[in-house]
Amino acid sequence: MYIDSPCCDTACIPRKTCTMHNIALVPTQFLSAQDVASIVQRKGLSACLRGMADTIQADFLRWQAFDKCARVASHSAEGVIELMPIADDHSYAFKYVNGHPKNNALHGLPTVMAFGVLASVATGVPELLSELTLTTAIRTAATSVVAARALARPNSRSMALIGNGAQSEFQALAFHHLMGIEEVRLFDTDSLATAKLVDNLRGTALKVVVCASTAEAVRGADIVTTVTADKTNATILTPDMLEPGMHINGVGGDCPGKTELHPDVLRAASVFVEYEPQTRIEGDLQQLPADFAVTELWQVLSGKVVGRSSEAQITVFDSVGFALEDYSALRFMRDTAQELGLGQRLALIPGLDDPKDLYSLVRPSVVKTGVSAPALSPEAVAA
Ligand SMILES: NC(=O)c1ccc[n+]([C@@H]2O[C@H](COP(=O)([O-])OP(=O)(O)OC[C@H]3O[C@@H](n4cnc5c(N)ncnc54)[C@H](O)[C@@H]3O)[C@@H](O)[C@H]2O)c1
Repeated sequence: MYIDSPCCDTACIPRKTCTMHNIALVPTQFLSAQDVASIVQRKGLSACLRGMADTIQADFLRWQAFDKCARVASHSAEGVIELMPIADDHSYAFKYVNGHPKNNALHGLPTVMAFGVLASVATGVPELLSELTLTTAIRTAATSVVAARALARPNSRSMALIGNGAQSEFQALAFHHLMGIEEVRLFDTDSLATAKLVDNLRGTALKVVVCASTAEAVRGADIVTTVTADKTNATILTPDMLEPGMHINGVGGDCPGKTELHPDVLRAASVFVEYEPQTRIEGDLQQLPADFAVTELWQVLSGKVVGRSSEAQITVFDSVGFALEDYSALRFMRDTAQELGLGQRLALIPGLDDPKDLYSLVRPSVVKTGVSAPALSPEAVAA
């Protein structure tokens, strides 16, 4: 199916303009969950979180370059499935992601699972198909830190972490490595989830304190991260728990009817969002009237608007996850995979001698090359 030649990288425009092939091909780079895990193991989670945060921050500073929209959601009784598209002049990206809070208990599956595509705007060729479950945890934690670096008090050292599931290690370690958090104060309604987190943080320099309630975890914390999963208007954080100067990193309220913060927590704070039209529908912000003032994060990052204006101010990053972060994440993983020689090539798009002759792929008794044949196994692709 493939010829390895210098022009066969993912930037290669299809065969028509490529003179080095003698067979047709339109390569798509594929990163499996194992490939992305290998990237993280070889580069180190700290370096990946840092690289991801830098990439996300740089892309937020190019805010006007992107064609943006709120994600498209399909809701059901048990959860949501969402498509998140975005493009600049060069690349188009989308993520498929779900949110099914009962998946762990009912099906032994993660709450959040994802994959995504990066395509060439010039040709439409899908250049990268990648896992985004692990990548989403890294990009979400990196985004949380990008926001907190701009909004939390710079001398923040302790963080309450409410919700100790799949995302929690990444949040704890991102804030430790990138923001200097030294103590995490944990609470989850599922004590086994907390025990898992404690175990996974063993060996790091983080001081870990297990708490008996959200109120206990939050007491005295500089930063509060809520990353719970429940398809309900929960009130994980109530106004009586607020302390002057706190920064709240609200990650789990990300869907209509799925919130974590009491509305008076938002009213008591300055609220920052990724992309306002999406957060109005999906964020904790959905509980407040349409004229409640918020600031988009890119405005703070670019210096157009002041983030934190006093030591005592309470700030909330009402995070729902925006497509721009996945665009950044896909590019970061693609570039790192290329640097490490990881990933495979997929024959997702058929190569054609005559691009108008699609029928040639199925013409009886004609053997064709460059076809994305059903028999193509991952091993064959890797070969
Ligand atoms: N904002 C974003 O960009 C973004 C990205 C990824 C995930 N998320 C959201 O983050 C949340 C967590 O995702 P996950 O993959 O870690 O899910 P998970 O199911 O693995 O973990 C969620 C944890 O929350 C706990 N929990 C539920 N209700 C609680 C409560 N009232 N108090 C304390 N703990 C409670 C559960 O016991 C569970 O351990 C989800 O809601 C998901 O949709 C947001």
